[in-house]
Amino acid sequence: MKKIIGPFRQLLTLDGLPSRGPIKDEKLKIISGGALLISDGQIESVGKFEELVKQNPKVEVEEVEGSFVAMPGFIDCHTHICFGGSRAKDYAARNNGKTYQEIAASGGGIWDTVTKTREASQEKLEEATLQRLHLLLSRGVTTVEVKSGYGLSLEEELKLLRAINSCGEMHESDVISTCLAAHIIPREFDNESDYLHFLLTELVLKIQEEKLANRFDIFIEQNAFTLSKSASYLRLLKQFGFDITVHGDQFTTGGSKVAIEVGASSVDHLEASGESEIKALSQSDTVPVVLPGASIGLGIPFAPARKLLDAGCGLAIASDWNPGSAPNGNLLTQAALLGAYEKLSTAEVLAGITYRSAKALNLNDRGMLKKGMIADLASFETNDYREILYHQGELQPSKVWKNGNLAT
Ligand code: NIG
Ligand code: FE
Repeated sequence: MKKIIGPFRQLLTLDGLPSRGPIKDEKLKIISGGALLISDGQIESVGKFEELVKQNPKVEVEEVEGSFVAMPGFIDCHTHICFGGSRAKDYAARNNGKTYQEIAASGGGIWDTVTKTREASQEKLEEATLQRLHLLLSRGVTTVEVKSGYGLSLEEELKLLRAINSCGEMHESDVISTCLAAHIIPREFDNESDYLHFLLTELVLKIQEEKLANRFDIFIEQNAFTLSKSASYLRLLKQFGFDITVHGDQFTTGGSKVAIEVGASSVDHLEASGESEIKALSQSDTVPVVLPGASIGLGIPFAPARKLLDAGCGLAIASDWNPGSAPNGNLLTQAALLGAYEKLSTAEVLAGITYRSAKALNLNDRGMLKKGMIADLASFETNDYREILYHQGELQPSKVWKNGNLAT
């Protein structure tokens, strides 16, 4: 089925922008009075509304009345939205002087969410995750990565991954599931080697059998997993054919270098990265993903986004939505704040939540509005694209299309 959607006051295609390094706003291609010709959920062509209508006289027109700026749907390439419970008490404790690591070391933190998530049935988790996916879609996020990591046993990790996959089937958004069974060492295991061995020999097989995830993640940090054990774990997973992503350099460095060495698609966090990590990332194909929501949630400085871009990296930005470090979940707000503090151009921020985050997920069919791409778009009621970040998330999309269909 073909149709034309438009006209938009400004159509921000992001087409032609570089995959890496800084981007000046002058490089943004803006089509005024722009429209899209869509065929079976894919973009067939992009151009001026009148011209597309003239060239395709028989094609149905979905006319957009009013003044809207449209751009590619957002891609949130790092979330943990499949969880039970709340960690409001951790948030309050941190604001009373406790650190994230102290809370974890005293048995709270991630373990607290594991306990609440284990208590929830798969059905309950699906319900909660669907609600969050729905909220994300209404905010313009059309592709969402969701990690497991609050189960930490064979059956519980499978429960989360099954819930994530069934949410993907039920919801309009595209859901990319990632196995983060290596989030922390669960109480049932005495040491990291035994736990990682168990994951590699038991959980991986089930995941392959049921096709529950193509990506694996690990949290490399004190109180989580060490550099050397993480590297061996990831190398084996890579040999099995999985995509790799890493939680690295959040509080201490080392994780980003492991990610690069094992050929990870992305390394996420990077708040602690310094010159040497930035240089190494700039010389690799591993996409650095910064998570401003975790800095806001923990009250710590942002990752060095400006420096990463200036070094030539293809910086992506994600929400890290989770109950502990990043409870806010509003990608647009977080990306806008990161831009203001780190002095990122509008183009750099928008690239970070669209085609550059698609790259972090190894997806090459989305994130720009051009021929062959999926017709996922978010439109905002304004006549100036700069208003989108200016309102720091308060200007929400009026209409969102997923695969060419109006979703909200
Ligand atoms: O990305 N750092 C490790 N994992 C998550 C936090 C998970 C949690 O605190 O529940 C993160 O910040
Ligand atoms: Fe995370």
